[in-house]
Amino acid sequence: MSSPILVTGGTGMLGRHVVRRLREAGCDVRVLSRRKHSPGDGVEFVTGDLASGEGIEAAVAGVGTIVHLAGSAKGDEAKARSLVRAASRAGVRHLVYISVIGADRVPMVSGIDRAMFGYFGSKLAAERVVSDSGLPWTTLRASQFYDLLLMVAEQMAKLPLIPVPAGFRFQPVDTDEVAARLVELALGEPAGLVPDMAGPRVYAMADLVRGYLRARHKRRLFVPLRLPGQAARAVRAGANLSPERNVGHRTWEDFLAERLSSPRGSRSGPA
Ligand SMILES: NC(=O)c1ccc[n+]([C@@H]2O[C@H](COP(=O)([O-])OP(=O)(O)OC[C@H]3O[C@@H](n4cnc5c(N)ncnc54)[C@H](OP(=O)(O)O)[C@@H]3O)[C@@H](O)[C@H]2O)c1
Repeated sequence: MSSPILVTGGTGMLGRHVVRRLREAGCDVRVLSRRKHSPGDGVEFVTGDLASGEGIEAAVAGVGTIVHLAGSAKGDEAKARSLVRAASRAGVRHLVYISVIGADRVPMVSGIDRAMFGYFGSKLAAERVVSDSGLPWTTLRASQFYDLLLMVAEQMAKLPLIPVPAGFRFQPVDTDEVAARLVELALGEPAGLVPDMAGPRVYAMADLVRGYLRARHKRRLFVPLRLPGQAARAVRAGANLSPERNVGHRTWEDFLAERLSSPRGSRSGPA
């Protein structure tokens, strides 16, 4: 019997696709989650918390490969540290990490940068924890997932006037396409920092929301907001884009057409 692959964040938007695809590839999968889940279909769950360190030793025991997807708006560096410590002791052979395009290009200079874009700083810090861990590693930087932008658009559409950061563009990507790439990486040899993965098109933020409103047959007025700080300036200059790595195939329009026409609607999640 081969050792299971541990997926942290295996219950999240991206993680559910990764878990399904690993199962389809014939792997035994272990998922770390802060909540209890019933096992099933070749997937076991270990309850633990990367923020407190609770349950992490049990999660990594006997594991050869970890796909580390657990994340939140803050504190990814500390979570990565907690995982790496336990993984090193357990003799893990490959640590695969998901980061974000722009982690190395969105500067954290002021309190404003950190308050609004601290996520990028924390992903870069977590990348460094992974690359300095002494464990064989692979890191993929991806752009924003369609599922995330759909949630954002849904929230924005509740407002009568929609504030949109002026000059912000995104190159979102299909969540399941990122999952497919991560599974390919997890089943391969450790590769260090691999080329970015972004979607097929670059959109102005307002156009992404307009696409959603059109698909929902809604109309709203937009108010451009000029965000202060160097991080916002870097994003206006395209630090979060990777036009030469437009390797995703599915477009935002195709995603919306499929997701919003599904009887499940947009709320029941991607997996
Ligand atoms: N969303 C995007 O557009 C995007 C773009 C590029 C990269 N990424 C990266 O991709 C990864 C997955 O993103 P996502 O959008 O799929 O996330 P998500 O849906 O918000 O899921 C977050 C996952 O992290 C787990 N988690 C959070 N805090 C934890 C903790 N303290 N201990 C253990 N598990 C914890 C959650 O598990 P439980 O709730 O079950 O405990 C959940 O499975 C993240 O690292 C994110 O930074 C996301």
